[in-house]
Amino acid sequence: MRLRRSASEPVPNAFRLRCAAHWGGTNSHRLATTSSGTKLGAPRPLPTDHDPHHRLLSVVDQPVTMRSMNDAPSPNDAQSPSDTRPIRRKTIPDFQQMKSAGQRITMLTAYDFPMAQLLDDAGVDAILVGDSLSVVVQGHENTIPVTLDEIIYHAELVGRAVNRAMVIVDMPFPTYRVGVHKAIENAARILKETRCQAVKLECGAEQADVIAGLVGAGIPVMAHVGLSPQAVHQLGGYKVQRDEDRLLNDAVTAERSGAFAVLMECISSTVASKITETLTVPTIGIGAGPACDGQVLVTHDVLGLTSGYIPRFARRYANLAETIRRAADQYCDDVRQGRFPAGEESYK
Ligand code: KIV
Repeated sequence: MRLRRSASEPVPNAFRLRCAAHWGGTNSHRLATTSSGTKLGAPRPLPTDHDPHHRLLSVVDQPVTMRSMNDAPSPNDAQSPSDTRPIRRKTIPDFQQMKSAGQRITMLTAYDFPMAQLLDDAGVDAILVGDSLSVVVQGHENTIPVTLDEIIYHAELVGRAVNRAMVIVDMPFPTYRVGVHKAIENAARILKETRCQAVKLECGAEQADVIAGLVGAGIPVMAHVGLSPQAVHQLGGYKVQRDEDRLLNDAVTAERSGAFAVLMECISSTVASKITETLTVPTIGIGAGPACDGQVLVTHDVLGLTSGYIPRFARRYANLAETIRRAADQYCDDVRQGRFPAGEESYK
């Protein structure tokens, strides 16, 4: 039985306004149980003394969270009875290994429990609680308004839902630009209150001390270089970033400061490829071409949950907005015509 658980190329105006949805543009922690009832929990591997990343490992290799009672089995559940490996979340070494093996890393955004669970079941490697929350969930024009408390609330929902993916949380504007100590306090709140494993910062080389401070405090950091949606007012819009020296310097500085991965947004494929070859840590691209070690998109764009302009770099795999509109329309029609509820949907 399962337990309930918990750029300097201008981009079109409409892009700026709604922008790929993302710019503006319980459970108790316990051992996992397979559908067949096999207990899968196992002690986490202990960090080794010679491993310089041991502090990070201890943060990211978290115990399993549980699935809800009414979950349908998913392909990820299909663990053979002889396979005693625990279900566990992906870790920094896993991503490093994926880069070495040339295995591409997949990442999508989620902001609530059911979506995070679905994406996790589908086998996504990393889930980002992005500050795109501000646009796609809260309905703001850009990512500036979302607060630390709000992102923590959503990250906690996601953190409880995910068993296998690494969960990364965006630090909202300007919570990591307020001095290193305050940045550590803010990032630590995210890790302590959400079961998520890492934070992401939109940062250039000038944020090296913040990255180093967070990593030194045991907080894994994904750096976000290239287009910085949080700098929309400074940039005057969402533009492809083309200063190659700056991009390379930002990415290399992020790695040297301890970032475990570098997300690159809206930069040319050529520069992204050069950065990916230069860095030893994985790169994750959005609008950065195919050479990156992994790709990320805003789930609302992927599922067609947003209306309006879809940026060139996003691909729509479903049209859920239409499906939802049609379902709601049919429901209203059935109620109005007296077709719902039917006898079998009523109690005697
Ligand atoms: O907030 C977000 O969704 C992002 C994207 C780059 C994926 O940062």
